[in-house]
Amino acid sequence: MVFENNDVMPALGLGTWQAPRGEVGQAVLEAIRCGYRHIDCAAIYGNEKEIGEALKSVLDAGEVRREELWVTSKLWNTRHKQADVIPALKKTLADLQLEYLDLYLIHWPVAQDSSTQPPSLVPLEQQPIADTWLGMEACLGAGLTRHIGVSNFSIKKLKKLFETAQHQPEVLQVEMHPLLAQNELVAFCEVEKIYLTAYSPLGRPGSSEVPDSAPSLFDNPIVANIANQHGCTLAQVLLAWAMERGTAPIPKSTNAKRLKENFASQNIALTSSDMVNLNSLDCHYRFVDGSFWTPPGSPYNLQNLWDE
Ligand code: A2P
Repeated sequence: MVFENNDVMPALGLGTWQAPRGEVGQAVLEAIRCGYRHIDCAAIYGNEKEIGEALKSVLDAGEVRREELWVTSKLWNTRHKQADVIPALKKTLADLQLEYLDLYLIHWPVAQDSSTQPPSLVPLEQQPIADTWLGMEACLGAGLTRHIGVSNFSIKKLKKLFETAQHQPEVLQVEMHPLLAQNELVAFCEVEKIYLTAYSPLGRPGSSEVPDSAPSLFDNPIVANIANQHGCTLAQVLLAWAMERGTAPIPKSTNAKRLKENFASQNIALTSSDMVNLNSLDCHYRFVDGSFWTPPGSPYNLQNLWDE
């Protein structure tokens, strides 16, 4: 994925959501040693310091140069005030031991006030995204990040952001896998020249947070059949599907074998009939449905969060 300034975001990244402290540093080291050059982080994951130690060790040892790495992080909900954005990014940079990020994203279109415990949910009318975006643009102007974007935004929220943005968002990160293909969003982003990164591209296998009633991509005969035909794993099929449609999947793993397996998905060439079969699985199923932003009394509900 090549940006206007010729920066390149590698099409496959390492996700670090729910990569626990004590494991994530080693996973980042192993990932970089097996060829990953794109690491997806966020302040709220609580593991940026350990990731920073790992990055420092490979950079200091000359195993990789900074300009060969693509590092993303995300602004948390409690730092949406324009004046809070640069300080939040500076904290992330200090934790990651980096001078600049490649990409900084607004993590959720949700604002929270950290002066209360737990932080209260603040309506977007009170803390508008347009104000937060001014802070994001200031980060860009200060050279603290090379690109800015958003995460978990709908087409409607992107269009609203376009109305005030001086600098358009360059990347959108959303949950995306064959059960949640979001074809309309993919088409919209193509027209608007916004690259898409796909989180939870494997559909969160084995997560205790996923209800038993949820569909599983790993039990799916269509995915299994394609994996058989290519002599590869189901995970590799899912990642190849994401890349084939021009999106950048960021599977999380802290397991050395699965890190390699996921990276090798770049060698799998799905056929157009594989893509048709995988596209038939779309049922708009969200594993991360955002219901944690909708407790009683919240200004957010699933309708105004996703605009659908
Ligand atoms: P682990 O870290 O033990 O490898 P997603 O990115 O869709 O949210 O999925 C992340 C989950 O998928 C993690 O629990 C991760 O566990 C697991 N996982 C990552 N890669 C693979 C793989 N190749 N095969 C099976 N499970 C995987």
